[in-house]
Amino acid sequence: MKPSKKRRKIMVIHGPNLNMLGKREPDIYGKETLEEINSRLENLGKKLEIDVETFQSNHEGAIVEKIQEISGKYKGLIINPAAFTHTSIAIRDALLLLDIPVIEVHLSNIYKREPFRHKSMIADVATAQISGFGVQGYIMALEAIAKM
Ligand code: DQA
Repeated sequence: MKPSKKRRKIMVIHGPNLNMLGKREPDIYGKETLEEINSRLENLGKKLEIDVETFQSNHEGAIVEKIQEISGKYKGLIINPAAFTHTSIAIRDALLLLDIPVIEVHLSNIYKREPFRHKSMIADVATAQISGFGVQGYIMALEAIAKM
């Protein structure tokens, strides 16, 4: 009998205020809730034979600690650090601990918005960035990680 293939685990981290998706500026971020996005990713994970775990926090330290936990246990990370994208050296430093594909996702196109959103503290330490495709960006990130 063939040994059962161990499923790969992928972590998805959502930063501050993304728990308010659906209610929060729907013209920019869309009408889908975070629960709906997460269940889409979990379902796609099943098709791709990947275990998708999701985590949301409004706290920078909690996100840093989650990234530290990932080290050695997960095969990829999809992260939308939300507003911390533009400010957090702590999240950037935590990401430098990882040697797995890290995909930075933004629902909106951050380069089309206010100048303070044009700077990402993590873009140059991430494997890739997807910005402006709405929820589809998370789907694209998971499909890409599955092939990596
Ligand atoms: C965001 C863009 C950020 O500038 C903003 O602070 C967010 C969401 C996005 O997904 O488009 O909270 O990361």
